[in-house]
Amino acid sequence: MTDILEIKEAWKTYKMGTEEVNALRGVNFNLEEGSFLAVMGPSGSGKSTLLHLAGMLDLPSKGDVILKGKNISDLSGKEQAHLRRNQIGFVFQRFNLLSQLTAMENVMLPMLKQDKEKAQEILDRVGLEGKYDRLPTQLSGGEEQRVAIARALANDPLLILADEPTGELDTHNSRMIMELLTKLNQEGMSIIIVTHDPMAAEYAHKTVEMRDGKIFS
Ligand SMILES: Nc1ncnc2c1ncn2[C@@H]1O[C@H](COP(=O)(O)OP(=O)(O)OP(=O)(O)O)[C@@H](O)[C@H]1O
Ligand SMILES: [Mg+2]
Repeated sequence: MTDILEIKEAWKTYKMGTEEVNALRGVNFNLEEGSFLAVMGPSGSGKSTLLHLAGMLDLPSKGDVILKGKNISDLSGKEQAHLRRNQIGFVFQRFNLLSQLTAMENVMLPMLKQDKEKAQEILDRVGLEGKYDRLPTQLSGGEEQRVAIARALANDPLLILADEPTGELDTHNSRMIMELLTKLNQEGMSIIIVTHDPMAAEYAHKTVEMRDGKIFS
């Protein structure tokens, strides 16, 4: 199997004035295309930092992040943005929808060319048929998260990165979201979720644990 993502000896050091925090301390990790991985571990262990590097929202202080065979440090900012937009879909704990935009408009945001038909198709795929014109306040938490997943799918990504996607949801809605992610994985998408919830992690094929900026399988 080919690796969609390789992280080699990655360090991330945050500097605040004279203080330095080593959020990642030499992380090594490979993700095969088509896998579904859960990352668990205590608060502050570096899970979100790792996801940010995987999705090129940030660069490592040391070490390499290789996405689809390309070392992202060798790419220009423009090339990185292109790869991020076309290969990666992000889902966050707090949905991060724009409150003044409808479900459909939120899904169209990342599209280069606004495609209403495609946005509706994706909303159908996540089980929101007929709710295209609802504002986030007119949706339940579980539905808002499905809009956020639909938005992550807008540019047909190969890799979905979800940071505590069920963190704000009750058990029923958490299961719905995990079943949706399972369906997307079965359709061929590679997925990494960060979660504190063992029930959510059970849906993944594999779980790794982070502690003190390192990964343990
Ligand atoms: N932008 C930043 N500037 C400075 N320090 C940061 C920054 N982001 C994270 N950190 C620090 O890096 C470490 C790892 O943070 P990270 O957010 O990756 O943890 P986490 O495992 O996602 O935690 P949680 O489960 O609480 O979300 C923590 O010590 C945190 O305080
Ligand atoms: Mg986090």
